[in-house]
Amino acid sequence: MTRPITSVLIGAGNRGADSYAPYALRHPDQLKFVAVAEPDPGRRDRFAREHNIPKERCYTTWEDLMAEGRIADTALICTPDQMHVGPALAALDLGYDVLLEKPMATTLEACVQLVQAADRAGRLLQVCHVLRYTSFFETVHHLVTSGRLGEVITVEHRENVSYWHMAHSYVRGQWRNSRLSSPMILAKCCHDLDILFWNLGPCRRLSSFGSLIHYRPEKAPEGAAERCTAGCAAAAECPWYAPRIYVDLTPLRRSVPGGTFPDDYRGWPRSVVWDDAPPAARDGDAVAAVQQALERGPYGRCVYHCDNDVVDHQIVSMEMENGASVGLFMHGHSHREGRTMRYDGSRATLRGIYSFDEQRIEVHDHLTGKVEVFEPEVGPFGGTGHGGGDEGLMRAFIRAVRDPTFVPTTARECLESHLMAFAAEEARVKGTVVEMDRFRTWAETVSRA
Ligand SMILES: NC(=O)c1ccc[n+]([C@@H]2O[C@H](COP(=O)([O-])OP(=O)(O)OC[C@H]3O[C@@H](n4cnc5c(N)ncnc54)[C@H](O)[C@@H]3O)[C@@H](O)[C@H]2O)c1
Repeated sequence: MTRPITSVLIGAGNRGADSYAPYALRHPDQLKFVAVAEPDPGRRDRFAREHNIPKERCYTTWEDLMAEGRIADTALICTPDQMHVGPALAALDLGYDVLLEKPMATTLEACVQLVQAADRAGRLLQVCHVLRYTSFFETVHHLVTSGRLGEVITVEHRENVSYWHMAHSYVRGQWRNSRLSSPMILAKCCHDLDILFWNLGPCRRLSSFGSLIHYRPEKAPEGAAERCTAGCAAAAECPWYAPRIYVDLTPLRRSVPGGTFPDDYRGWPRSVVWDDAPPAARDGDAVAAVQQALERGPYGRCVYHCDNDVVDHQIVSMEMENGASVGLFMHGHSHREGRTMRYDGSRATLRGIYSFDEQRIEVHDHLTGKVEVFEPEVGPFGGTGHGGGDEGLMRAFIRAVRDPTFVPTTARECLESHLMAFAAEEARVKGTVVEMDRFRTWAETVSRA
């Protein structure tokens, strides 16, 4: 019997502890966590309890863990965006195979440095582009690359971020400010750019437009308080009123058939708000804990009075090397969360929707006029874990560690989506067209300097 792959977890937060690590509990024959590095004592202890990790293998920071040398086969790095590079470089240096959360890093130079480090170390560096591992995007990929659509001429890919998810992550939350995290086109759309690259090949040149139109102080309605819980006069008319989102769970209820949702729900996005509740409240009544968190933490702030600066809409126009024209539309004002897409080919048109409550692909054949429909299964709340993508990613990573001839995606391939995102941001900010070949060469050069 082959032994399970061993792993250390760096960052036992939402992604590390709740999205990927449960794979080890479901498949103990494949994966075992032997150490954790996490500064938050509550999260660290919970992870250690769940995975049976001895006290001496629980560390406060990634530096402490790495100082032990290599103590497992693999390292899962799930720290916040701006804290990926240090642990990833250290882990590669020590000879770990690495699974790294996206974005690889918040600067272009650091992304390239990571790929160079993986090449040097001869280790696996896999980035968590989970969409590639969903049956929805696997189906789209197969339809596009098998020639079913003929030659692909144009693509419209939309990342429709719902008004409440936008507020949660990009106005009130961790990714609200590009100085503190990264540009939104990188944080939100490196997945989408990765899918476009996967399906169509490299981009030749691109331009981009976008800005922050709405979530700004001058757009606040009359009487808006700094915090929703401070008796805001605009509460009844405000879609972003925090208690409606986090206490009543109105948007989540709308996304499930029948509208029923457990009152004591503790999953995302409530799980993120949780940490702002007083420690004593965290293990008690879910609603009471959330209410207390909103009174003191960032998620109770008025969406017009946050320190956010990332865009709320951006488009990227791309000419691919195969000649296809592609438009990526990202915005944070959708009624419904989800990606929609349309591929027009010389033989057929593909239309797709990938949402919490619906996944459907239609192929309209030009010759026969027939419509073929694919409906990958949607689990509760959109299929937990990115419609199966989190589970698929873990499976692929473990297989790649075990079998060096199986390479799901190389680090260089993962880099391409990041290069496109940085190029799009440069094009947006400077109002230029970016030639990707020149941009790639420049990125390699500055990263070596
Ligand atoms: N692949 C995806 O689809 C996807 C989805 C959401 C988030 N993410 C990415 O996953 C990463 C983690 O996001 P999250 O939502 O889990 O955030 P999180 O804040 O819930 O988790 C990050 C954890 O890292 C810990 N940490 C901070 N400093 C540390 C240190 N020095 N050593 C060890 N741990 C440290 C934090 O205490 C926290 O528990 C981010 O980069 C995010 O962009 C990816």
